[in-house]
Amino acid sequence: MTHALTHANASSLRDLSPALQNKTYFNYGGQGPLPTPSLEAITTSWKRIQELGPFTTDIWPYISAEVSKTRGRLARLCNVPAHRLALSENVTTGCVLPLWGLPLNDGDHILISDCEHPGVVAACHELARRRQLQVHTLPVKQLRLGADQQARTDRDVLAAIEQQLTSRTRLVVLSHLLWNTGQQMPIAEVAAQLQQHAAQPYLLVDAAQSVGQIPVAKAAQAADIYAFTGHKWACGPEGLGGVAISERMLTETHPTMIGWRSLQDESRAVADDPDPFHHDSRRFEVATSCVPLMAGLRCSLDLLEQEGSSDERLGRIRTLSEQLWKELQSLPGVSPLLEGPPPAGLVSFQMHSEATGATPSEVVKSLGAEQIWIRDLADPICLRACTHVCTSENDIAQLIDQIRMLPAMIS
Ligand SMILES: Cc1ncc(COP(=O)(O)O)c(C=O)c1O
Repeated sequence: MTHALTHANASSLRDLSPALQNKTYFNYGGQGPLPTPSLEAITTSWKRIQELGPFTTDIWPYISAEVSKTRGRLARLCNVPAHRLALSENVTTGCVLPLWGLPLNDGDHILISDCEHPGVVAACHELARRRQLQVHTLPVKQLRLGADQQARTDRDVLAAIEQQLTSRTRLVVLSHLLWNTGQQMPIAEVAAQLQQHAAQPYLLVDAAQSVGQIPVAKAAQAADIYAFTGHKWACGPEGLGGVAISERMLTETHPTMIGWRSLQDESRAVADDPDPFHHDSRRFEVATSCVPLMAGLRCSLDLLEQEGSSDERLGRIRTLSEQLWKELQSLPGVSPLLEGPPPAGLVSFQMHSEATGATPSEVVKSLGAEQIWIRDLADPICLRACTHVCTSENDIAQLIDQIRMLPAMIS
């Protein structure tokens, strides 16, 4: 495969990101760096709002143009029509707001993977408690084959779903890229499988780790709820994300967190109006949010595109993650979670305490003292380093060298 970036340190996105100038950064799955042009786009927009308004007649055309450009941009990223794209503030609200609007009946079943993020898991359990639903677990945590065996992983995921589905399963919750093991889930194939099922379960996809990292259009088109944020792999500001909603969601669900932006006529709510809500994805939007962030996210997405197409960027990310995965494997006492090269840029690994004499959080702290930033995860207990198009081969060399030196540093 040819990559847009073929040599180390070739990323201009990297050069434009102050956060990457003074540290060796591997926490893109937690938050991406904000490039300077994106920060400037935010402050320019903020100033413009103050010059025009903030609350004058002149400001509304500006705000409505910002909202519509951003909706259009995120819809294009997901390859869905703009009316299917709701703006959100983070991954979790993108998942949870539509979740609460699903037309579930008492006694229905939810099937949720064992690799979902705690916020979404907690929301499903609370929904289940209030509606007397049963929550069943989809086991995917133990799938540890690498990208060279993706077809087998895909088959295993589909088989596990088949085994867990019941006649009352109305919702399946599964991330596109698992934040802990780094495994990729076959979302479009899962959606097709669920369509064949008599109960036609909805498919909620947490896309926190996929947007900005891997091509998402097929999965975003296929899911009922495909929720993401701009502040991780897309290197946008925190506080702005989106959710692609299926056509059936627009007709079959009800908004739950209701505000003036959910209303067709935002200036009034009439008590006897049986259908006051937008018929498009705006029914899941709520109220005032931070408009200047929108220019920042669009700028980051433009900068990301300049690094290559989404396939080219993934190629580069995989080259780097494979290198990291191989080098980790060669270190004594270190085992990557996956048995083969990772499908994307999440590289999780375990360090046996006899090799370091340290817990994962102590390892994170020791590396942080050298300005090398990775993170630890609780389930499975492991460490995670992410490779991004901003990552250089030198970053990887530094991480590996420091891990090699850890026993001496910690003792
Ligand atoms: C898979 C996954 N889901 C959800 C979240 C929460 O993201 P947010 O704070 O944008 O809701 C994260 C953040 O790390 C994540 O990795």
